Amino acid sequence: MGTLRHLMTPMDFSTEELEAIFTVADDIRAHSKDYLHSCDGQVLATCFYEPSTRTRLSFETAMLRLGGSIIGFADATSSSAAKGESVADTIRTISCFADICAMRHPKEGAPFVAAANSLIPVINAGDGGHHHPTQTLTDLLTIRTLRGNLTGFTIGLCGDLKFGRTVHSLIHALTRYEGIRFVFISPKELQIPDYITEMLDEKEIPYISTRRLDDAIVGLDFLYMTRVQRERFFNEEDYIRLKDYYILDNAKMRLAKPEMYVLHPLPRVNEISVDVDADPRAAYFRQVQFGMYVRMALILTLLNKTDAHINAGLLTEK
Ligand code: CP
Repeated sequence: MGTLRHLMTPMDFSTEELEAIFTVADDIRAHSKDYLHSCDGQVLATCFYEPSTRTRLSFETAMLRLGGSIIGFADATSSSAAKGESVADTIRTISCFADICAMRHPKEGAPFVAAANSLIPVINAGDGGHHHPTQTLTDLLTIRTLRGNLTGFTIGLCGDLKFGRTVHSLIHALTRYEGIRFVFISPKELQIPDYITEMLDEKEIPYISTRRLDDAIVGLDFLYMTRVQRERFFNEEDYIRLKDYYILDNAKMRLAKPEMYVLHPLPRVNEISVDVDADPRAAYFRQVQFGMYVRMALILTLLNKTDAHINAGLLTEK
């Protein structure tokens, strides 16, 4: 039996370990039939206390495509959380049924509590405004595939940089790669938290902050758009005032480099006009598909099953 590992933040894996996961994801993409029985007899539990389309369904699809089975809940009100059960007791229970668990929770730290009380690997599938490591794995694999590497580019992050857990996780992860520059594009009310800019200052990683998307877009290699998240606001008036602050449309895309890709963790509300979807630089639906491949690779890694594929030579038969 291998060691029990969890994924709580993107920093839980070294860049070498991430590269190994991306290599497996590439192999799955190229040779998906070789993996159809990799998780025969194994069970994934998805415990989602907060809504999701992509993360939950891509985890479930990932396990099904590996030959495993799935259990779980998509809504806390249909679990015993509604009767007051703690996260610790829920994961102890899930540990009796499943081999691995993906958990999303509105409270920062809840998946960490689960991991501390679990007998099976726990994956943080998003905790409040804190981290969303599997979205970051998705984003890194997408960038690596589109660009060929993860170094030497300028990435603009636009929208809700205050509450956006995908943004926080991605910035942390990218600080470990050479030559990355950040452009933070947000209204003052949604600007990047100080603890992140302090971390960038400490590491001497260049960044600028601006409100003006039209000016910033010109110099970007990637533009990472985000939704203004209604569920994180205390005040509906503030949400209404800020929700349409940025709308990326074809006029703005004309200002960008011909090779500037647009990413978005999705869901989208109004921040990217649907007209942009036809632009070859719009990569957000390709990003969704990379999310499934990288979650397949992650499940195999946390269940200590990648060695079987390496030993069988499947990763070298490109
Ligand atoms: N990107 C993302 O987390 O999407 P969902 O909320 O639909 O899972």
